[in-house]
Amino acid sequence: MRKCIHTLLAGLFLVACARPEAPADSGDILLEKGWRFHLGDLPEAAAPAFDDSGWQTVRVPHDWAIYGPFSRDNDLQNVAVTQNFEKKASLKTGRTGGLPYVGCGWYRRPLDVPEGKQAVLLFDGAMSEARVYVNGKEAGYWPYGYNSFTVDITPYLRAEGNVLAVRLETLPNSSRWYPGAGLYRNVHLILSEKVHIPVWGTYVTTPVVQADSAVVRLETTVVGGAASVETTLLDPAGREVASATASARPEETVVQEFTIPSPQLWNPESPALYKAISRVNAGDGTCDTHETVFGIRSIAFDRERGFLLNGEPRKFQGVCNHHDLGPLGAAVNESALRHQLELLKDMGCDAIRTAHNMPAPELVALCDRMGLMIMLESFDEWDVPKCRNGYHRFFADWAEKDLVNMIRHYRNHPSVVMWSIGNEVPSQCHPDGAQVARMLTDICHREDPSRPVTCGMDHVSCVLENGFAAVLDIPGINYRTFRYLEAYEKLSQGLILGSETGSTVSSRGVYKLPAVKRFGAMDPDHQCSAYELDACAWSNIPDVDFALAEDYPWTLGQFVWTGFDYLGEPSPYDKDSWPNHSSMFGIIDLASLPKDRYWLFRSVWNRQSPTLHLLPHWNWNEGDRVPVMAFTSYDCAELFVNGVSQGMRRKERPAQPTLGGQDEALEGRYRLVWEDVPFVPGELKVVAYEGGTPVADASVFTAGEPHHIVLETTSASLCADGRDIAYVTATVVDREGHPCPHDGRLLHFRVKGAGTFRAAANGDPTCLDLFHKPAMHAFGGKLSVLVQSGEKPGRAVLEVSAPGLRTGRISLPVR
Ligand code: GAL
Repeated sequence: MRKCIHTLLAGLFLVACARPEAPADSGDILLEKGWRFHLGDLPEAAAPAFDDSGWQTVRVPHDWAIYGPFSRDNDLQNVAVTQNFEKKASLKTGRTGGLPYVGCGWYRRPLDVPEGKQAVLLFDGAMSEARVYVNGKEAGYWPYGYNSFTVDITPYLRAEGNVLAVRLETLPNSSRWYPGAGLYRNVHLILSEKVHIPVWGTYVTTPVVQADSAVVRLETTVVGGAASVETTLLDPAGREVASATASARPEETVVQEFTIPSPQLWNPESPALYKAISRVNAGDGTCDTHETVFGIRSIAFDRERGFLLNGEPRKFQGVCNHHDLGPLGAAVNESALRHQLELLKDMGCDAIRTAHNMPAPELVALCDRMGLMIMLESFDEWDVPKCRNGYHRFFADWAEKDLVNMIRHYRNHPSVVMWSIGNEVPSQCHPDGAQVARMLTDICHREDPSRPVTCGMDHVSCVLENGFAAVLDIPGINYRTFRYLEAYEKLSQGLILGSETGSTVSSRGVYKLPAVKRFGAMDPDHQCSAYELDACAWSNIPDVDFALAEDYPWTLGQFVWTGFDYLGEPSPYDKDSWPNHSSMFGIIDLASLPKDRYWLFRSVWNRQSPTLHLLPHWNWNEGDRVPVMAFTSYDCAELFVNGVSQGMRRKERPAQPTLGGQDEALEGRYRLVWEDVPFVPGELKVVAYEGGTPVADASVFTAGEPHHIVLETTSASLCADGRDIAYVTATVVDREGHPCPHDGRLLHFRVKGAGTFRAAANGDPTCLDLFHKPAMHAFGGKLSVLVQSGEKPGRAVLEVSAPGLRTGRISLPVR
């Protein structure tokens, strides 16, 4: 028997120039190049002989809608958003990002499959209602645009000249955010011999986890005939720690258990990854080799001690994220995801909720390797609609298939610590809602008994009364922090998760006076205040969620809405408020630039390195009285204007635990505030003290006239793989190098050498500049330019220029 294709090693630790991540258990060929794309329906394009030479050449992942143009008329929705307490329908602009994602698109490419192979296509996600044609025949269909699915194309293949065509369609009024469009995630061709381990055919659990030993249990499914399965376990350093062989009858699942002495446990601080290498031997040799990356860790939810990871209590310091990558749209890019996670990790974030759908596999593999836990979510809608053309159309026939694929795909990942069956589904208040919740929970338990099931609930009265919340392993409450106590008392689980929290809204660098809490406030500039005191009517500022996590042992922590701004849902500017078209909820903006809130979270969440951050900018009018805040992990600090003390502030320790009220005055607990500082140009400086000794300081300076452009990046180099991306921050500064906080001029970009200009973003939710054009307005004096590597080594040189300013230049090695 010939040797099968060797599975690509997945789950490698972060190395400088790793290939983009393949799913952890696939032996695959990435179908990245060679695609042709056509926008519009063309049924005859399924035929192999169809002439597509006039179509656009694209590289997958590809999002056809991100290139715009933006328009108020793209997917106008006249709806009442009941989750936001709306009773009457109103016109929503920018709800799905104002981008042209609605429509039909076709992709085609030749397929080269050696004779005699079993061939399966694995789509990591295709937006949406994918119809897959091989040589003119429909070989597969999958409606949900976020889920991974496989299509066995073996019966449709011929000796040569195979053609793959994929038809995708996205309907208007099908989403509450920007979904993206097209083959926005990777497509894999998986080739194997007749006897093989199918896609997602292994299942690892660690039923016993102790300091001195752990039991690893591996279930391996073999199809195509009888075989023996030879399994070797490797520790994080690649040393063999166990091995065993078992025989499998045709279509049988083989169970093997291994005891590992002194296991290295997976946790966010030390994400140790093991590998199981499964060799399938049949006839005269090895016919399949399969790698499964896994971690050894235990999860438990305890009434007294809350969530326990490896027996240690911890609270989730999590964020919710939608799948889009701002200026890249939905087209997945591993280096962009890594950049996001690096920022979040430094903030002290240890968990991600994949709101409100299955993520890209690259995200999950990165969380395994970088150390972030995941609440992996499936649906935003069950059988009762939220959107006219939403998932409810498919729920009855597809919900189980979707859950099964999601769980089998991701059940080996140590980062995944719970499944979520839904987000604020309207079924919560329906008579059969609890029954549907039970059905979905049971599917999760059947497929993976090792993880608990949650659901983000917002109709607290309904779910406490009708049995819906009682069905869940972990009751998750979205917002409504003032009802946590009541829910805790009424529910038998004895635990409450802040499955979605915050929804504070802000625009980076835009400070509104006075600095007071505002709910649902809208201003003529269509921006929210960066003092981080603006929230929507249903939401709250972060201080409330911090206090709940600190004050009650039964709170499990939170998933903040959201880590990053995303395309669409521009609340509070969503009612006929064009040009707003992207969210303001992010702790980090659409350009991946942190807002001030980033340091508020960091000051509470990052216990490894101190935080001292001063706001606002210091460019005001003479005579203005300006509120100043320090977001800091230190308890006490003194403020100076040009060396003159403005007084000392100390964090307040409340006598009573919080009740979670939206209006509770908790700011003094987490922020140091100087309410009324007279503006004098010069230096605003904060000095932090410990035991009366100054230990750290931070300053903001009044900027003079814009003079030049400074470029900075955290990427030391790029990989010559044609995909790696460096995020370069361009800042307009004065002669002394002080950032000019109000500058909004048009900046121009040019990339020469071994890279290309990929996109730019400025984080302004009202800006209609297109991401892929080499010119964009600065916002708050800054923007991000994304430089993408080519496929040849060399240097990529980025220049950012504007008339009258000295050009910024940065040169990055591409290796
Ligand atoms: C929640 C919802 C999220 C998002 C958020 C905005 O109700 O689950 O998807 O819409 O509100 O505050």
